[in-house]
Amino acid sequence: MSVAGQRAMGIPVRQREVSLSVVTVAIVAAIGGGLFGYDTGVISGAILYIKREFPIDDTTEGLVVSAVTVGALAAAMFAGVLADRAGRRFTNIAAGLVFAAASLLCAVANSVPTLVAGRFLVGCGIGLTSVGGPMYIAEAAPPRVRGTLVSLFQLAVTIGILLAYVACAILAPAAAWRWMLGLAAIPGLLLAVGMLFMPESPRWLVRRGHRTDARAVLAQIDPHEDPDAALAQMERDLAAEGHGTWGELLQPALRPALLVGIGLAVFQQVTGINAVIYYAPQIFQAAGFTSDLTSLAATTGIGVINVLATFIAIGLVDRVGRRPLLIAGVLGMVAMLAVLGLAFHAGAAGTGASSLGVITAFCLAVYIVSFAFSLGPIVWLMIAEIYPLRNRAQAMAVSTASNWGANFLVSLSFPVMAGRLGSTATSFTYAAFGVLTLVFIIAKVPETKGRTLEEISKLWR
Ligand code: BGC
Repeated sequence: MSVAGQRAMGIPVRQREVSLSVVTVAIVAAIGGGLFGYDTGVISGAILYIKREFPIDDTTEGLVVSAVTVGALAAAMFAGVLADRAGRRFTNIAAGLVFAAASLLCAVANSVPTLVAGRFLVGCGIGLTSVGGPMYIAEAAPPRVRGTLVSLFQLAVTIGILLAYVACAILAPAAAWRWMLGLAAIPGLLLAVGMLFMPESPRWLVRRGHRTDARAVLAQIDPHEDPDAALAQMERDLAAEGHGTWGELLQPALRPALLVGIGLAVFQQVTGINAVIYYAPQIFQAAGFTSDLTSLAATTGIGVINVLATFIAIGLVDRVGRRPLLIAGVLGMVAMLAVLGLAFHAGAAGTGASSLGVITAFCLAVYIVSFAFSLGPIVWLMIAEIYPLRNRAQAMAVSTASNWGANFLVSLSFPVMAGRLGSTATSFTYAAFGVLTLVFIIAKVPETKGRTLEEISKLWR
């Protein structure tokens, strides 16, 4: 029986029930997350064979690898403008088309500049989806399940990373780097075509004055709520807020929210996640897994754990809330980084070298689990939910760009740090950032569980 039917007959409707329509919306938008994960993960395998076909020096290699991050940073800023002017749905369609075209360009590249351009464009797709995906899902989702639905985006990121590890392992014997990079064109098209059939974000429609369309979307995606009441609430809040400008990001009123959004985005990276995700095989080799096969197997294990542990967040984020998960997760990350630092120290001193491999594998596994139920999904979720609609697109763009900027710095500096400072100091550095993250969360990050986006905006006033 339909939800409306249940209501009419006085049958209580379960609060956590969600319409198929809003789940479909979240799943289709999350394809962008899958591409984000796949395209950041695939290069570690592909680069080995690219180097054989085009003999390149270290700097050019760095360029091929990091062009994605630079593209993501640039496009995240642009995504803010696009999401406001052309709509949330269009931003996701554009992301899919850019992914498809850029992946094909990489697959047929016959020179290094073309390849770098292709990877930069892939990065643009990632920048568009990392702003447009979570924003679209958060704006369409009913508050009681918003955390779960936006976490699907992060789940897709982790699945994308895992698929990239698997694709590299399967295609490695044939040295088929063009396939590794080109395969992403298929989900890219799927995202663009799928989004054509999805509704526009009701909040963007209200903002543009399309109230009839907004009401229809609200009725479709959340049959538990009265669409007229939700619409009236959004209109009231928007009338009070008005339309924002980029310049307003500098104004004091927005500062507390921006501090939280940018802080979370940067802390997600400086606690070292991508040192593990991008360099896991090297870390395992440094810890004594000398054969390529065992270090690759251990890396795939990390990918699987990353996917599985994201389900903890999906299940708990709307029940226990954002803050407890963040605090528990970051505590776990700090503890594991500290133990890892001590283990590398003992290994370097010659004591316990034989158990170093086992301790490393254990610490990295628990570190990944802790990240996957906390900073991984919740940062993307909170960036999408903490800003007032008036400035949401611009503020999300700046926060997301900060995330990519920090990602760029960490992935560039990790090999240098590990080489010059050693594994012990590198682990302790990330642990120290973890302690700062913990203090920041406890002092600054509000609980947003169960509140409407409009109620969250009011928290800052
Ligand atoms: C982060 C990525 C990271 C991934 C790992 C995402 O939330 O933004 O930088 O590679 O999680 O699962």
